[in-house]
Amino acid sequence: MTTSEAPPRRGRELRTRYTAADLRVLTEDEARRFVPDGAGDPQTDITVAWELLYRLEPELYDRLVSAERLHPGVLGWLPRDVERIVEVGAGTGRLTLELIDRAREVVAVEPAAPLRRLLDRKLARADHRCRVRVTHGFFDDLPVPDDCADVVVACSALTPAPGHGGEAGLAEMERVCRPGGRVVIVWPNNIAWLAAHGYRHESFAGEMFVEFASLEEAVELIEVFYPSAVTKVRRRGRREVPFEVLGINPPRDLAFKAMAR
Ligand SMILES: C[S@@+](CC[C@H](N)C(=O)[O-])C[C@H]1O[C@@H](n2cnc3c(N)ncnc32)[C@H](O)[C@@H]1O
Repeated sequence: MTTSEAPPRRGRELRTRYTAADLRVLTEDEARRFVPDGAGDPQTDITVAWELLYRLEPELYDRLVSAERLHPGVLGWLPRDVERIVEVGAGTGRLTLELIDRAREVVAVEPAAPLRRLLDRKLARADHRCRVRVTHGFFDDLPVPDDCADVVVACSALTPAPGHGGEAGLAEMERVCRPGGRVVIVWPNNIAWLAAHGYRHESFAGEMFVEFASLEEAVELIEVFYPSAVTKVRRRGRREVPFEVLGINPPRDLAFKAMAR
């Protein structure tokens, strides 16, 4: 390896996987949102590391989220038989693929080009691309008109931080939702913030596991994403790992607001 080459990433945990030099992968619009003071460091700011993961190793990210399935109660709660759903921060489609049979059109907004490509590929395989429009955009500047959607939804994407939606992002989601429609935040990370904006909370009970394809896959991914849990997971020797073992809350919650008619 020459000195100008980056150190190999394999086996490295997310917190130390990328360096400030990797920030060059961000577009101008992305850098303005994710490293607003121009001096972000993925080794001290884990949210920046996630943004680099989406752009540098989208398949690795996709392997993780494919194992983290949403609670069936959440999927059962989401409206069906509507005209249009807008999903923001669609990623590689964990929720998008569940939405395609619920609306005449689904608009999936996703800023990271490598994730959009993976999502497009999955939709093509599922032969559903005609009903889903995958498009570039950010929470705070959604590329869709006022009042155009019956449901506007984000899953594990909106946070109170301005770069990941914040006040402006929530206001944009409400702008594009028609009167009588619903804005839904699946797997919210800050229920109190949403409650202060008039959102109601639903939670679905039951034990939940991250369902890795194999024990080997579980260990490899946990070494990267949840390294403090590796010993415990090896000791359990099972491919299904309770969310609590990884120190994360399970995807059993949603918050929603019905927009006034
Ligand atoms: C943890 S992933 C979740 C992806 C997908 N919703 C899922 O549940 O699998 C967070 C997603 O939010 C997107 N994201 C981050 N900041 C965003 C922003 N400002 N506007 C829109 N999407 C954003 C990321 O690109 C990523 O796809």
